[in-house]
Amino acid sequence: MSRPLLEVRDVRVSFDIRRPSDLPWTPPAQLHAVNGVSFTLARGQTLGIVGESGCGKSTLARALIRMLPATGQVLWEDGTDLLTLGPRQMLRYRSEIQMIFQDPLASLNPRMTVGEIIAEPLRTHRPKMGAKERRAKVREVMERVGLLPNQINRYPHEFSGGQCQRIGIARALVVEPKLLICDEPVSALDVSIQAQVIGLLEELRRDLGLTIIFIAHDLSVVKHLSDEVMVLYLGRMMEKASSDALFADPRHPYTQALLSAVPVPDPKVERGKKIISLAGDLPSPMNPPSGCVFRTRCPLAQPVCETQPPEELRGDHRTSCHFAGMPVPAE
Ligand SMILES: Nc1ncnc2c1ncn2[C@@H]1O[C@H](COP(=O)(O)OP(=O)(O)O)[C@@H](O)[C@H]1O
Ligand SMILES: [Mg+2]
Repeated sequence: MSRPLLEVRDVRVSFDIRRPSDLPWTPPAQLHAVNGVSFTLARGQTLGIVGESGCGKSTLARALIRMLPATGQVLWEDGTDLLTLGPRQMLRYRSEIQMIFQDPLASLNPRMTVGEIIAEPLRTHRPKMGAKERRAKVREVMERVGLLPNQINRYPHEFSGGQCQRIGIARALVVEPKLLICDEPVSALDVSIQAQVIGLLEELRRDLGLTIIFIAHDLSVVKHLSDEVMVLYLGRMMEKASSDALFADPRHPYTQALLSAVPVPDPKVERGKKIISLAGDLPSPMNPPSGCVFRTRCPLAQPVCETQPPEELRGDHRTSCHFAGMPVPAE
């Protein structure tokens, strides 16, 4: 059997936090933003990663491409652990893994034209490519993402949010990556524009065989795009399953709560739907609850949840919960 494109094993990312009141000789406190996340991703698949703001989605994405230091293993399909590579060796893999970001305009250099922005990764990763070939390549990806050739000399501020995101996608695609990491690419866009950008990503995946990690804070956005969905909470995996299984049979109370917040198009179903509201606020990752990190907001929590972290149930449908599969009672 061939290797998956990406195999992530027990990845952890911590930040040192110094508060103004800390004395200079005390060690900094640790914030565990990503706390032991593992998954595999086969070629051509799309993995959706979902969770509330602050649960570690962006930190995980940045760790995978070495924008942040992490521990664990990030194995590429050739067996290389990306976390062990030096900057020069990593450069090669950085053209195979490209990323697009949430705020399309802010992630584009305002002083560069669209053509220059899209050509920039080619200058880094294909330094021997001639100017003519580079221009042809830029035009080709512009067309691919639905930008017009005559827009090549315009500046980012002349474009709408949706078009800026297309520019970001073109810049990512120009080096022909195998993996595209999309960090909340549509969260800042209007709903109608969201659908267009998601449609474009689906098209690219189909036509180019791209493998995609698609990050979102709500489940409805990832539903149609993802083959598999992973739900994170306070830097930990709560549940991971095929998209169909997760939506049809959510086993973790957190997933059930997230799903209950997704609007259903049919008004009859919507009216009869069970709403699960979670108690309290997201705890600080500086000071996570003992045992199961979700227990302070969990409608099913029992004393065991306070004392023991749940073991992860492995297999196709993974869950970290002492009471996985138990339905949360309606309010
Ligand atoms: N550079 C940083 N320094 C300190 N803490 C950070 C830094 N980046 C992120 N964090 C913290 O890590 C946690 C996860 O953040 P993030 O990955 O941005 O979450 P998400 O993308 O899911 O909203 C948050 O508590 C956030 O405050
Ligand atoms: Mg984020």
